[in-house]
Amino acid sequence: MNPTPFYQEIQDEVVVFEKAWHNQLPLMLKGPTGCGKSRFVEYMAARLQRPLVTVACHDDTGATDLLGRYILQGGETIWQDGPLSRALRQGAILYLDEVAEARPDVLVVIHPLSDFRRTIFIDRHNEELKAPPEFMLVVSFNPGYQNVLKDLKPSTRQRFIGLQFQYPPAEIEVEIIVQESGIDSKTAAKLVKLGGQLRAAHSLGLSDSPSTRLLVDAALLIRSDLYARQACNVAIVQPLTDDLEIAQTMNDMAALLF
Ligand SMILES: Nc1ncnc2c1ncn2[C@@H]1O[C@H](COP(=O)(O)OP(=O)(O)OP(=O)(O)O)[C@@H](O)[C@H]1O
Ligand SMILES: [Mg+2]
Repeated sequence: MNPTPFYQEIQDEVVVFEKAWHNQLPLMLKGPTGCGKSRFVEYMAARLQRPLVTVACHDDTGATDLLGRYILQGGETIWQDGPLSRALRQGAILYLDEVAEARPDVLVVIHPLSDFRRTIFIDRHNEELKAPPEFMLVVSFNPGYQNVLKDLKPSTRQRFIGLQFQYPPAEIEVEIIVQESGIDSKTAAKLVKLGGQLRAAHSLGLSDSPSTRLLVDAALLIRSDLYARQACNVAIVQPLTDDLEIAQTMNDMAALLF
């Protein structure tokens, strides 16, 4: 079992997760990139002392990838569990990241797993697997990012309870950056201020806001003695824009703080 990672609670997500787990309810995490969803799931799995199985879904992820397949080994065909079947047998926490990206047949598998049946049907292996009480299904979903086609159907959404993640309040974000990078709190506060200004600067027309992840990255670079303006440029500005003028404006904003 992995050691418990650092996770700074923002609201009451820890108790919500625990109650969901006790009641065998599947959970949907919503929120922008880099705001702590994966870290939260890792933390909860360690806290509940359950193994964690994570699957990053993409547009080629199908039911077989999750359930398993027959493979050839030394002239013999043997069955190999996919991550979903393995997670069920282990009573793990299964985290399907970006579930809306997956192929529709994945949702067909998830439906009987995420309602009272808590069962999967592995048709290729002619097996029905029931989830043990310790098993929990967690998915992440970002309604803002996906196009309309990738929106989840109500029949899928309504099988989950939902937690909305957002960028943390400033004082908490400072604490996260200090803990994650080992930087002093004064410098962390400046990074959080820059993050806040960029998130509010709609006139920049950024398609994405700077995440806590980017601020932590900048802090790590500063911590290892890269000068602050360059750290902000490479860790925050460049990942967010390719437009030279907008980048200049963002770097000017950083220069007013550092
Ligand atoms: N509440 C938090 N406690 C501790 N660290 C955090 C928290 N929120 C964000 N972080 C930091 O931000 C980084 C990114 O978080 P994480 O990988 O969990 O984001 P995510 O929401 O899963 O993003 P994505 O949607 O891109 O997968 C973490 O590695 C950690 O350094
Ligand atoms: Mg993640």
